[in-house]
Amino acid sequence: MPSAFLHPFAKPTRESFVRIVRGEGALVWDSDGNELVDGMASLWYCAVGHGRDEIADAISAQARVIAAYSCFDPFTNDPAEQLATELHGIAPMDDSRVFLCCSGSEAVDTAMKLARIAHVQAGQPQRKLIISRTRGYHGVNYGGTSAQGIAPNRENFGPFVADVVQVPADDVEGLASLMAQHSDTIAAVLTEPVQGAAGIYPPEEGYLQSLRKLCDQHGAYLIFDEVITGYGRLGSWFAAHHFGVRPDLVTFAKGVTSGYQPLGGVFVGPGPRAALERDPDFFLRHGFTYSGHPVACVAALTNLAIMRREGLVERALHVGAQLSGGLRSLAADGVIDHTRGEGAMWAAGLRPDQNAMAIRDEMLRRGVICRAINTDTLTFCPPLVITDDQVGRIVDTLAAVAGA
Ligand SMILES: Cc1ncc(COP(=O)(O)O)c(C=O)c1O
Repeated sequence: MPSAFLHPFAKPTRESFVRIVRGEGALVWDSDGNELVDGMASLWYCAVGHGRDEIADAISAQARVIAAYSCFDPFTNDPAEQLATELHGIAPMDDSRVFLCCSGSEAVDTAMKLARIAHVQAGQPQRKLIISRTRGYHGVNYGGTSAQGIAPNRENFGPFVADVVQVPADDVEGLASLMAQHSDTIAAVLTEPVQGAAGIYPPEEGYLQSLRKLCDQHGAYLIFDEVITGYGRLGSWFAAHHFGVRPDLVTFAKGVTSGYQPLGGVFVGPGPRAALERDPDFFLRHGFTYSGHPVACVAALTNLAIMRREGLVERALHVGAQLSGGLRSLAADGVIDHTRGEGAMWAAGLRPDQNAMAIRDEMLRRGVICRAINTDTLTFCPPLVITDDQVGRIVDTLAAVAGA
């Protein structure tokens, strides 16, 4: 009999799960006492590592003062204001404002809605079309599911939000002609700078720059979904910095708190910001009960302070070099087919005779967590505090299992 907990992204009939009971740095332990190297920072988010008393203490202290209070008009709170100011300082665009919510999915739906309503406020109410890419993952709310580029994640959930279309992931020409066809009805182009959940696909050289140019040419907003790449994963605060491309809206979640509390948000850059602020009588009818939740905001502030103090953004490059070096040598030896990635997020592309799920299960049995995607990909996105030895354990275990 399955338990009462209906699990996310799992077969409803599955009865047994690996029960994680404790964590410390890049290690976690299951209920049988097995030590596991967390090669995925849980689900791409635990940048500062597990077991940080400092964040637990900050959460507890805030909960004792005021655990939660609405930020709907007319209220606000200090942690939310402080966090927005802090994020403003590291944002990838000048003069941005920060909308806060509770997850990446909420952030994506927020960005899609803000893009449309900002065009209305700017006097272009016909701009509704949102274009995303195949292989894109944008969460599971209806906006994000409609923009979803991973076909099985859409199946049987329709009908979807109207006027949201996908283009083939790397086809600039195709996108250019679609945009030329629909020019003044386009609200936004939505993309992950590095596609993550589909199996880690960095952009082809110049691709993101081309998106920026096309959006400028057609008056559309460029939305970067930085739910995975934000907060240091690529060795800079945001992928927008890393690739030198300035988007109009940026979604984030995961790494902003390293998962110690659920928190997401959207940076609203100068273009959409000016549109939203244009009419003093305009009232933004969008927000979540927990937008600006003070406990989540102090978790983020403490997480960001740790990242700065320990130089974890820069450390992503070291972690990435260790990991990609190991994977490259496995590819050179034919143990895996190839590797692809950027910063501290890397994939092992497998040979046709290998099976990702079987390798993942055996690696788990030997004490290493990675993620299997389709039959041909394993992904690695460890906490940025992972030691060289622990990266070595990931690579050696993959070598032993995939090479068997
Ligand atoms: C790029 C991207 N966008 C959105 C999401 C959805 O975030 P959440 O699961 O917090 O709703 C994810 C989650 O993995 C993601 O990788």
